[in-house]
Amino acid sequence: MSRHSVILDVDTGHDDAVAIMMAAASPEIDLVAITVTAGNQYLPKTLANTLNVCSELSIDTPVYPGMTAPLLRDLVPAPLIHGESGLDGPIFGPCAKKAEKEHAARFIVDAVMSAPPGTITIVAVAPLTNVAMAIKLEPLIALRLSEIVVMGGSMRAGNVTPSAEFNIHADPESAAIVFSSGARVTMLGLDVTTRVVLTAERLDFLSRLPGKAASLFSASMRHYSAACQKYAGECPALHDPSCVAYAIDPSIVQKKFLNVRVECAGALTLGRTVVDESGVSGLAPNVYVAVSYDADRFWPLLEASLLKYRG
Ligand code: BDR
Ligand code: CA
Repeated sequence: MSRHSVILDVDTGHDDAVAIMMAAASPEIDLVAITVTAGNQYLPKTLANTLNVCSELSIDTPVYPGMTAPLLRDLVPAPLIHGESGLDGPIFGPCAKKAEKEHAARFIVDAVMSAPPGTITIVAVAPLTNVAMAIKLEPLIALRLSEIVVMGGSMRAGNVTPSAEFNIHADPESAAIVFSSGARVTMLGLDVTTRVVLTAERLDFLSRLPGKAASLFSASMRHYSAACQKYAGECPALHDPSCVAYAIDPSIVQKKFLNVRVECAGALTLGRTVVDESGVSGLAPNVYVAVSYDADRFWPLLEASLLKYRG
């Protein structure tokens, strides 16, 4: 696997925090920047959480603050799962990390336009507001990007409503812009991210690993697990880290090139990703949709990432 340049777009969040740990530690990823949007909580909180994670683990990747709200809607955050801070659980010391001054969307445009075509991948594990805004500022980035990997959507059931997944539901208009931009988009929806389940046994095992990342993982995942058990009655899925693992090793996923549209108007189905599996719409495919995920290969990647922060 060759090393490639990645911009990680987050709304940190428990699983986003783990995605940051993995992306920054992976030898296959050159983590160019972390861009932050509103999502799991309001931007000041998701930004503070991102900076705290980077400070705690001495991650020197620049962090760019982005959109404060979805393009056309008010933010509806997710305090039941991620807490009032957006990352309840870990206690951080003083934060040594500062955010960059440039806006995330502007940074994305400048980075992609100044790099050789096809060399930068965006891994977006948050509402797609920053990515959509960057595409609106400079539509040419869509064709210059190597790939946009999206944690979001679902071929079948949702998690925030019966129809919709949180990231797409939070900002459906942005998702529609990204999916129709002409970029090579890969969607890892709930169909595959819910295969990566953090059982109590796995959490105990990973919590016993040495180093600062394992301690931070343990503190944040204990909160996340308890919240998912309380409000969803199940062990948590590592949605966002599963997308970083795909960026590390794309063969972890099987995908199909299908037409996907985003429901931006439905009274009951707002934010649904309408995936045309049978081709009945007659519309051209626009998204590589992940249809299966080899979760057994995820755990060694996560373990290796956590161990990188020893000492
Ligand atoms: C997604 O929603 C957020 O709460 C998580 O961080 C993840 O990106 C899962 O639906
Ligand atoms: Ca997220």
